[in-house]
Amino acid sequence: MAVPLLDLTRQYAQVRDAVLREIDAVVAAQQFILGPKVDAFEAAMAGRIGCGHAVGMSSGTDAQLAILMALGVGPGDAVITTPYTFFATAGCIHRVGAETVFVDIEPDGCNLSPARLEECLRDRCRRDADGALRTPRGNRVRLICPVHLFGLCCEMDAIGGLAAEFDLPIVEDAAQAIGAEYPSRDGVKQAGAMGHSAYFSFFPAKNLGAFGDAGLATCRDAAFADELRLLRNHGMEQRYHHRKVGGNFRIDALQAAILHAKLPYLAGWSGARRDNAAKYAAAFEAAGLLEFLTPPATPFAGRAAEHHIFHQYVVRAARRDALAQHLAARGIGHGIYYPIPLHLQECFAYLGYRPGDFPESERAATETIALPIFPELTASEQAEVVETISAFYAG
Ligand SMILES: Cc1ncc(COP(=O)(O)O)c(C=O)c1O
Repeated sequence: MAVPLLDLTRQYAQVRDAVLREIDAVVAAQQFILGPKVDAFEAAMAGRIGCGHAVGMSSGTDAQLAILMALGVGPGDAVITTPYTFFATAGCIHRVGAETVFVDIEPDGCNLSPARLEECLRDRCRRDADGALRTPRGNRVRLICPVHLFGLCCEMDAIGGLAAEFDLPIVEDAAQAIGAEYPSRDGVKQAGAMGHSAYFSFFPAKNLGAFGDAGLATCRDAAFADELRLLRNHGMEQRYHHRKVGGNFRIDALQAAILHAKLPYLAGWSGARRDNAAKYAAAFEAAGLLEFLTPPATPFAGRAAEHHIFHQYVVRAARRDALAQHLAARGIGHGIYYPIPLHLQECFAYLGYRPGDFPESERAATETIALPIFPELTASEQAEVVETISAFYAG
């Protein structure tokens, strides 16, 4: 039996009526750019995430770009992030003209390591005479961008402590982590509500997916939200009067309406993904596979209900590439996120990083493989995935 990595048609069957009603309302009103559907979606998202303000954007990438522009990050500046993430995280930093400073991930996870971050801030960077923290290239460190990869929040207490000590704002990359919770010292918080600002992606495959591209920026401060609204609309407040140079980063009213209609389902979908993850972990153990496979870490289980939203279910596997070939030959969907860490990408060669600079990211790139986890995955499909993996390691 073939098993897809993701089958969105099954999700659509559940939401079809609600979504088509919303699409019909937008089309009937012929209000496609901003307007009441966008306002309503933004208010719902701000409430859901528990952040002050939410601003709909055309994609996660554009949301990040708008945040960096609003913070005035540009040439002469540097942003700290991880090399084990989707390309956009570092791509946007480059696009505003700033230096990307990479910091390795944790050995037993895939998120930014607080220990490596501390090392970077204390040892790789230095304070100059005017007190600015500078990279070895001389650029001024402006902010930290932790990525809540695959739907698990970073260790935000530790990262936040360092950010506070070095007086650096945090911009969360929450693109893959809508609804994910972190049990902080001050109580349980959601991804996107823990930093100065954050960005989300509603790429169709995300836990909350649009019918095309869409994104969201969140922030604490009302004036910063106004700045984001200005920048997403070419810096224009009054029609054809441009206070700033921004871009067309607006979310489509259609996408906002569709996402709003899907929002009530999100918790159930993420819960079903968690159930599937627990079933995999039990099945791998029962099949004696833990010698070959390491299921994803769940460090916050028991301390937050939505401790992981499993946007992807990523295991570490012995002989990963051969396993991937075995799965492909048998029609079992899988994905490699990500095969080349960003410090080794051709376009970032100018940053001067070398193989061996970030050993944990490089190891993850050779060991990780994503398996089907979508909410509608059936028990027999999941059993097929486990049996196909068992046959590989038995062979
Ligand atoms: C970690 C991460 N950051 C940023 C993005 C960019 O989001 P978008 O594809 O909506 O532009 C993504 C999208 O997949 C992502 O996974």
